[in-house]
Amino acid sequence: MKTTMGTAKQSPIDWTKTSWHNFTALQQPKWPDREVYDKVLANLSRLPPLVFAGEIRELKAMLAKAVVGDAFLLQGGDCSEDFSQVTAPKIRETLKVLLQMAVILTYAGGKPVIKLGRIAGQFAKPRSADTEMVNGVELSSYRGDMVNSPDPIMEARIPDPNRILQGYNMAASTLNLLRAYTRGGFAALHRVHAWNQEFVVQSPMGRSYERLAKQISQAIQFMETIGIATDNPQINQAQFFTSHEALLLGYEEALTREDSTSGGWYDCSAHMLWIGERTRQIDGAHVEFLRGVLNPIGVKIGPDYDLENVKRLITALNPENEAGRLTLITRLGMKKVEKVLPPLLREMKKEGFNIVWSCDPMHANTYTAESGHKTRNFNDILSEITCFFETHWAEGTIPGGIHLEMTGDNVTECTGGARNIVDAELANNYMTTCDPRLNAEQSLEVAFQIADMIRS
Ligand code: PEP
Ligand code: CO
Repeated sequence: MKTTMGTAKQSPIDWTKTSWHNFTALQQPKWPDREVYDKVLANLSRLPPLVFAGEIRELKAMLAKAVVGDAFLLQGGDCSEDFSQVTAPKIRETLKVLLQMAVILTYAGGKPVIKLGRIAGQFAKPRSADTEMVNGVELSSYRGDMVNSPDPIMEARIPDPNRILQGYNMAASTLNLLRAYTRGGFAALHRVHAWNQEFVVQSPMGRSYERLAKQISQAIQFMETIGIATDNPQINQAQFFTSHEALLLGYEEALTREDSTSGGWYDCSAHMLWIGERTRQIDGAHVEFLRGVLNPIGVKIGPDYDLENVKRLITALNPENEAGRLTLITRLGMKKVEKVLPPLLREMKKEGFNIVWSCDPMHANTYTAESGHKTRNFNDILSEITCFFETHWAEGTIPGGIHLEMTGDNVTECTGGARNIVDAELANNYMTTCDPRLNAEQSLEVAFQIADMIRS
């Protein structure tokens, strides 16, 4: 098996950004007016890219380090971003928790943490069924704000192509603010204390975080005292990347651009794209599209994977075995992970594939509470994470990252955690339009638990 480090040069010669049209694309909305849809995409394909090829290559180089354990991937954000929540406070709070978690993990692990948001484009959702029951009424399923509205009325569920353009604008303004925050001083390590949310400060997690923040401040102070400059990008800025599920292939195609310097094709809707468990058919349109763009690609792997199929997917998406190109995001469930993760790791190790192994402890641990809320229990999430790390260590492979659905807000969507949210409390602040997220405190708790495991 050959290996290339660094960056692939060219997209495959038998690929174009429209070649996916010849394959079956699952989970695409039934747009009622094809003409409007085509017009929207034509318009979008003239608008500026959201990210640049150089940034995408930078992320890939960092992910190449995570393959060998020299960096750790922290990917997190909403299950489904909500247009009505594209506001400065919401974006800031999510960023703050991710920065806090990154500090906790960096301090414990002694290696760089790659900060990758499920943000600025996570607006389209695959659904298991075409319809869903809401308050006793059968409605077309909500498919993400870029497709239809979650409002529980029939008309709101009709796909509207204008939402694609709105999604692009929402992604652009989100990214604009993230760039301002991460480059403009907000993410400076000097401000490590200021990232602690008010409602978290007095909690056990908040206090643990304060202690860590104090140590970091003292370290910076010490450097300044002995004359080491701390006024540099390593201290003053954070590198932050974006990702979303590449589900709506029309949107992805319209933002796919040829890099003027290298000639390769990049999907400039986000730095990293992933394909979900429902759209990763080897002969499907999503795999066809993603195999040709040069971004880092994630693939979700559920508990019913077929080993031969996974190998064929890897070969299709990463024929050069380029390190950093491919992240496999396992979402196996706390009941099955112990049984189904080892054979997967063994086989891929035997093949010599370069893979960033990331753990999504959310998607196979979902259940419906008695109150009717879709939820996840904190202990189940933690069990899957713990088993993920221990299995990798036992198999001699590298646990390279974590993939979470989380928010900076004080929501009550997942049960358990230090405050022990119980089923009956889920209704208090259940805000998600799709899957349940960890709140800020639960997210910090996950970070501290991982920190305990990886402490070097
Ligand atoms: C998701 O990440 O929100 C998702 C739908 O995941 P999966 O494809 O793993 O079910
Ligand atoms: Co989800």
